[in-house]
Amino acid sequence: MNMGKKVSAAAHPNLALVKYWGHRNTSLNLPANTSISLNLDGAKTETSVTFDAALEVDAISFNSKPAEVKVYQRMTRFLGLIREIAGIQTRACVVTENTFPESVGFASSSSGFAALALAGSKAAGLSLSDRQLSILARKGSGSACRSIPNGYVEWSAGDDDTSSFAFSIAPESHWNLAVISVIFSQVPKVVTSQQGHEAATSSPYFAARQASLPDTLTAVRDGIRLKDLTSLGMAVEREAISFHAIAMTSAPQQYPWMSGIYYWQPMTIHLLKAVQHWRHDGLPVYFTLDAGSTVHLLCEDAVLSDVRGGLLSLLKQLGVKADIVISHAGRGAWVIDNPDNEKTDGT
Ligand code: DP6
Repeated sequence: MNMGKKVSAAAHPNLALVKYWGHRNTSLNLPANTSISLNLDGAKTETSVTFDAALEVDAISFNSKPAEVKVYQRMTRFLGLIREIAGIQTRACVVTENTFPESVGFASSSSGFAALALAGSKAAGLSLSDRQLSILARKGSGSACRSIPNGYVEWSAGDDDTSSFAFSIAPESHWNLAVISVIFSQVPKVVTSQQGHEAATSSPYFAARQASLPDTLTAVRDGIRLKDLTSLGMAVEREAISFHAIAMTSAPQQYPWMSGIYYWQPMTIHLLKAVQHWRHDGLPVYFTLDAGSTVHLLCEDAVLSDVRGGLLSLLKQLGVKADIVISHAGRGAWVIDNPDNEKTDGT
């Protein structure tokens, strides 16, 4: 291969309703548990990949700048996996852009590695099935395997590399569920998800969470299938708190002075309590949070403007600024035929 074909692909980040937290195998990102998510169509990553024999090393641009060392190492290792499957040695030129901030609890690694898996594998001449793509994306970032299929997605923990992949459980058009992502802090978190996953089993409550997950998974699957926000929302909130309880009671090896991992900011707890009050007052809205201070509010379209109004007055009352991104369930990763059109169509 001299200069290969440039392939561009995009993917939405996904929001876990049942969280992946803890590994059974760290190098393969085999998760400790099955998880469920939906793709967020209000944000996306776009990535283009060209394999080029003239390059001695991979050239990676990330949000219009050369990728910083850690990001570069993670992406070049992943390109190595693609080269291995394709049986090539050629280095690649990668250009990747996010429409949202990284490392603030908005799963940028999920859309990032899903888009890279799709663009990279196609640029290397491979034509992988959705299952193979999901397995490949998982090795870049566990949650990325869930940004490959459409809409509402389940990632089956599986037993090994070939049985741990994600599949769609309902298309994006299934339900008019809205997600309001409230991004308080654009400061990247200190303890990365990878470090958090590794620390999870040190929590004395890890086994209790594992034991509770089969019932939670059933409640969340049923809630999605029946479009029952009351039972889905309660299960999702309790699940998010259970995941944070593990983080808060686990000891990350890299930070021996930390008695636990706190991904929240003071505003996070203000908003969680406000959501409970709003519900008490009859507004059907629920929250979830990933490994960061960003709070994601779930509600149906019918009450979206009421929830947004309540949120804006809370922020005003507290004198706090936040970026707000509104999403609905989105499609899985896709190839961009004409990147210039894609940039202007707002999808
Ligand atoms: C809290 O997929 O970011 O968002 O596999 O190490 O890249 P790596 O971790 P990542 O972890 C996601 C953790 C989570 C829960 C979830 O998305 O399921």
